[in-house]
Amino acid sequence: MTTSSAFDVLPTTADAQPSLEELWMPFTANRAFKRAPRMLVSAKGMYYTAADGRQILDGTAGLWCVNAGHCREPITAAIREQAGVMDYAPPFQMGHPLAFELAQQLARMLPGDIDHVFFGNSGSEAVDSALKIALAYWQSKGQAQRVRFIGRSRGYHGVGFGGIAVGGIEANRKQFAGQLLPAVDHLDHTHDLARNAYSRGQPQHGAELADGLEALVQKHGADTIAAVIIEPVAGSTGVLIPPVGYLERIREICNRHGILLIFDEVITGFGRLGAAFAAEKFGVVPDMMTVAKGITNATVPMGAVCVRGEVYDAVVNAAPGGIELFHGYTYSGHPLAAAAGLATLDVYRSEGLFERAASLESYFGDAVHSLRGAPHVVDLRNIGIVGAIELEPRPGAPGARGFETFLKCFEAGVLVRSTADTIALSPPLIVERDEIDRMFEVVGEAIRDVA
Ligand SMILES: Cc1ncc(COP(=O)(O)O)c(C=O)c1O
Repeated sequence: MTTSSAFDVLPTTADAQPSLEELWMPFTANRAFKRAPRMLVSAKGMYYTAADGRQILDGTAGLWCVNAGHCREPITAAIREQAGVMDYAPPFQMGHPLAFELAQQLARMLPGDIDHVFFGNSGSEAVDSALKIALAYWQSKGQAQRVRFIGRSRGYHGVGFGGIAVGGIEANRKQFAGQLLPAVDHLDHTHDLARNAYSRGQPQHGAELADGLEALVQKHGADTIAAVIIEPVAGSTGVLIPPVGYLERIREICNRHGILLIFDEVITGFGRLGAAFAAEKFGVVPDMMTVAKGITNATVPMGAVCVRGEVYDAVVNAAPGGIELFHGYTYSGHPLAAAAGLATLDVYRSEGLFERAASLESYFGDAVHSLRGAPHVVDLRNIGIVGAIELEPRPGAPGARGFETFLKCFEAGVLVRSTADTIALSPPLIVERDEIDRMFEVVGEAIRDVA
């Protein structure tokens, strides 16, 4: 008698190529990808190796996350070692030392009096956790009517229901409309090509857009608003850099009305702007920060909400006893992620990577702005080790020019990111000057080739 097993269907030879059909890829044109796949098979330092053996210069730090470069030995060694010591420990009513150690180290790095850390596994989880903590905070302060969130048009806060509700990218919402948070409003975004095109660093014009928050406070009433959530520099929507004075004014309005301010630093955290966090770069301290990506150099998924002591005190220390926050994930503070996080912070610190990013900012900015005058370019902007090249959309085909430029760059051996018709570059912070030169040479050629 033959027995069948669920495992019979797996390929049995080492070189069998998997079918591409079964995997439902995220944020991907699945059918087009599967017709012409772009596969990466290994990575080291600044480079990926593609399935056809080509070296691909990583102009995007993976997805804004591999800030120290790929497969860094101290980080992979720490993960390997931890996997052999303790693979997993339950985080509810139990603990393990590495999660506490990582929280302590983060608390030392965090700005102002942000000194408590709640772990999750991604930016999306960090955002949803932050929104829930904001609600719990107001409940514990006896102001349970503060339930409204203010996000910003074009904002990206991941893909949880909370994140897409406060986010301001229509495409991420419209398939799911009707199921989002009930009380959300949005500020205008700050992108203003008419006044700010070709800015280096922070644009000069637009601080007054923060006054939109005052208008929303007047409309809804301050005592209904739990928190404002914004990305200090919006990344996924195509790199929107805050105008001079804008974040300060948002902070000031939140202070005036006692509204919590959340900075979503999932992209801006861990050196991307040439400082540990955007809060430090811009000198504006929020009440909570969400981080992920660079926290473990993207080796093991991890995200976190970092909060001011006052928020922790209100929810935890003022509670009568028992479990104070009915929220958490099976993998909150996972041992492998915690080990990876500690090793990552050590690499950032010992190699001075945040300072390195600061010292490269001007060279990187020059490279971005060297593309001035290239065909279809309508804006170039940069801050820290982030650059954006905005192309004029092809009539009737928005996004096509950006995507074709991304494809051409990949063919030429450089990974860039396209969001609609903006090309974003955000390489690992170990990038060398000649690699920056090469990235922008290739992008320039691709732009000239794409009609
Ligand atoms: C600002 C911001 N918040 C949240 C997220 C979501 O992070 P994740 O994809 O890890 O859920 C991202 C991802 O790019 C992001 O840029």
